[in-house]
Amino acid sequence: MTKKDFWNQTISSWEKNKYKKTKYFDFNSSVKFRLQMASYLLNQFSKKTKYLELGCGSGYLWKQINPSCIESYRGVDFSNKAIESFQKEVKKLNKTNQVSLFCEDCTKNIYPAEIVVSLGLLDWISTDKIKLLAKNYKSTWFLHSFSEKRNSLSQWIHHCYSLWNYKAGSPYYRSSKELLFLFGPQAKIYRHPKLSFGAFIYNLPKNIKFKC
Ligand SMILES: C[S@@+](CC[C@H](N)C(=O)[O-])C[C@H]1O[C@@H](n2cnc3c(N)ncnc32)[C@H](O)[C@@H]1O
Repeated sequence: MTKKDFWNQTISSWEKNKYKKTKYFDFNSSVKFRLQMASYLLNQFSKKTKYLELGCGSGYLWKQINPSCIESYRGVDFSNKAIESFQKEVKKLNKTNQVSLFCEDCTKNIYPAEIVVSLGLLDWISTDKIKLLAKNYKSTWFLHSFSEKRNSLSQWIHHCYSLWNYKAGSPYYRSSKELLFLFGPQAKIYRHPKLSFGAFIYNLPKNIKFKC
């Protein structure tokens, strides 16, 4: 099965499962924290900003951003299911003048943006595509989550779970060193225990601060 077919079949259940509230132990707390952290950072942009989100899914991140911070929001995802559901939400909230959505591969076009963001995308694309993204958007601010290669029990469980449950196989786990090399000298890494083995590679203005 291609990754595109996989995400078309999976995106809506993946999002429901990852973002649903649970009363008891939450196996998906790191994905929720990732979304929370990204919106916390993006909401610190003080002036109206041009956002580009790659692998945007149904727009969970966009919904967390204060509309008064948004000059324009472009979302790119190769899953038409994701784009259709994002589009529905945009229409419902009457924000069609602010948001434009593109159903295509994240490397197909280069869009103007002040900040390029992705959550959970790098884990599913090849190193050659990451190289292209880094090159395409080298002069913009960026914030990308990724799964950091670690020798940890949680990563081993995640890997087995993905092989068992995901028809597209396991996601990529990459070392920070490899990503820092691809994104260049301005890139930095952020880790937090609540992200588990997730991390961010980023280059953001100095006034934008991570939560401690
Ligand atoms: C793990 S999901 C994350 C969705 C959303 N960013 C979130 O965090 O809630 C990964 C998303 O990336 C999209 N995706 C994966 N590979 C892609 C590619 N090559 N081009 C565009 N979108 C891609 C999938 O369709 C899916 O919506």
